[in-house]
Amino acid sequence: MNFIAFDRNSFGPSLKEDKLLKSLIQVDHDDFPQPWRVEDWHQLTFEHYGLYGSFESGDQEKSLQGFALFRELPGDETVHLLKVVTRSSARQQGLARKLLEFAFASQHERSFRSLYLEVEHDNQAALRFYESLGFKRYRELRHFYGPGRHGISMGGGIA
Ligand SMILES: CC(C)(COP(=O)(O)OP(=O)(O)OC[C@H]1O[C@@H](n2cnc3c(N)ncnc32)[C@H](O)[C@@H]1OP(=O)(O)O)[C@@H](O)C(=O)NCCC(=O)NCCS
Repeated sequence: MNFIAFDRNSFGPSLKEDKLLKSLIQVDHDDFPQPWRVEDWHQLTFEHYGLYGSFESGDQEKSLQGFALFRELPGDETVHLLKVVTRSSARQQGLARKLLEFAFASQHERSFRSLYLEVEHDNQAALRFYESLGFKRYRELRHFYGPGRHGISMGGGIA
């Protein structure tokens, strides 16, 4: 498996036309519980975002298996995990764990030291996943994802 940190230069001049971005949008749409709208992806500036992907082979557009998206604000030692997803066909093989370890190593080099995130209260796979990485539950976020859809905030150190 290959892991890559993307920046704006990873994509062509037109995000709308870019095949790699299309494959990220496809994975988000197919396999993430609350996908972004296509327009939101097209407006991604990449400034102070960290985007990391996992691939089966060198052909990035065809073999994207998952990605993680963070806010990484300079001067703040804490990153915000916005999304992490593994294609449903590739789950429970250690892929998201390795992808986040790859991201954390890159973030640690740039002096980021901790992370926070939100997760829907009944997303058992994600809750178990974050706990397996050592993150703690902080508090319930009432109706964070919509009426009756509560969130849980979590976080901890990144090594
Ligand atoms: C959460 C998610 C990213 C995990 O991806 P993954 O590649 O399957 O995770 P890994 O294989 O790296 O799992 C690492 C550890 O997480 C835990 N875990 C992962 N999936 C689990 C599941 N379905 N049930 C219980 N524990 C699970 C296990 O402890 C696992 O370690 P183990 O394999 O040694 O038992 C994946 O289920 C996913 O994409 N879900 C949909 C998107 C989503 O909900 N993202 C989080 C939103 S906040």
